[in-house]
Amino acid sequence: MQSNGYAYINTIGCQMNVYDSEKLAAILKALGFRHTTDMDQADIVVCNTCAIRHKAEEKAFSFLGRFAKAKRKKPRLLTVMAGCVAQQEGKKAFKRVPHLDLVLGTQAFSRFGQHIAALQSGRRQIVDTAPSDVIFDTMPDKADVSENQVSRFVTIMQGCDNFCTYCVVPYVRGRERSRSWESIVEEIRILADTGVREVTLLGQNVNSYGRREGGISFADLLEKVARVAGISRIRFATSHPKDLSCELIQAITDLDKVCSHLHLPVQSGSDRILKKMNRGYTREIYLSRINDLKNACPGIALSTDIIVGFPGETRTDFHDTMSLLTEVGFDAIFAFAYSDRSSAPASKFSDQVDEKEKMDRLNQLLALQDQVTEEKNKQVKGQVMQVLVEGVSAKQHADFVKTSDNMQQMTGRTASNKVVHFPSDTAAVGDLVDIQIMDAYLHSLWGQPLERQTS
Ligand code: 5AD
Ligand code: SF4
Repeated sequence: MQSNGYAYINTIGCQMNVYDSEKLAAILKALGFRHTTDMDQADIVVCNTCAIRHKAEEKAFSFLGRFAKAKRKKPRLLTVMAGCVAQQEGKKAFKRVPHLDLVLGTQAFSRFGQHIAALQSGRRQIVDTAPSDVIFDTMPDKADVSENQVSRFVTIMQGCDNFCTYCVVPYVRGRERSRSWESIVEEIRILADTGVREVTLLGQNVNSYGRREGGISFADLLEKVARVAGISRIRFATSHPKDLSCELIQAITDLDKVCSHLHLPVQSGSDRILKKMNRGYTREIYLSRINDLKNACPGIALSTDIIVGFPGETRTDFHDTMSLLTEVGFDAIFAFAYSDRSSAPASKFSDQVDEKEKMDRLNQLLALQDQVTEEKNKQVKGQVMQVLVEGVSAKQHADFVKTSDNMQQMTGRTASNKVVHFPSDTAAVGDLVDIQIMDAYLHSLWGQPLERQTS
């Protein structure tokens, strides 16, 4: 195919955006664009955007804004705003970025190719934010899955019907809809054939997978994915606490390939705030689900999302969130200061919390979680953990000794998603290696491969 020049893609936001960008990249490749990491070389620049918090949105506008000068120098340069901010802003995006060529909403990705062709034949300022039930499920091309990619995301559903009062997702990603299990499994088969060993199944609420379409349940989907040869680990995100089923807990226990790790966003430890957030559960219900999980899968790793400074959050509410952290003992948290989004109902709530107070609470929460994480990491010292090898470590540990020419410091993750560094002269990317944990830190573990210990 004739070259169309170079494409540069900037991805902001969540794992779903990473996945969507891979698909956009494949469309550009099919149109004859070559990928570049040098934005000055680009003939098309795509920014795949995130609207979840104000800061992410600003990042998208400031990134795209930079290309005004480049476009004057190279008029054929195409600039594209894709994803959540594009969906939210529509043609208003041109007010802030007048040189933009295409505003491609979240449900218009399957029409990306045709819009590029229209731009190349002279059209300017295309906006496509039309809603669509069709899920963007083009299959990956084996040649696009680069070597050494041991882990990949696979989106299994789009949108959300939960309408938490702080969240833009139901407005920018649309109503919940699921891909067919056949297309998901086919995609994972292709990935496995190219050397991928771990897949993370993505959806806003994977527990309601197939609910609208009347298809198989999420637990059944896990079973089908577990049958794909070559896949050794399955992860998934996100589960909504109100929908966490016994069937799913059972699947985590029964299916060896499903990692014993659950990401279960709690958002707040205060019942008053959970109600205002429209989360559909209380602190007590959340804790009882955690209890069920710990009983069914002893040692399960748990992570969560938390928002501090939601409108009306008092210091007492905040302390309820702090105490929940220690009560559950999360392995990791993702914590955010509440960001007011004009399309979400909470923007109309009174008692907005002062920005400085939000940051103080966020810092207190993160400091407490650092202690919990370090403590949890120390508990695994001496244990033997299976690690999926991801590559060579970027930084060397003080105990690393190069005892042979082939000896390298490798890095990988445990099923509980902890990063482990270890020395090896045999481990290759994609291998599962048993490592004895020798030391534990806040962000990683250090260990020795088992055969080395015994030899
Ligand atoms: N402000 C701050 N954090 C938010 N999240 C979603 N909306 C907002 C908002 N308006 C967080 C939630 C969610 C995660 C993906 O982002 O914790 O689980
Ligand atoms: Fe947003 Fe709530 Fe849906 Fe998660 S469940 S995407 S927080 S509306």
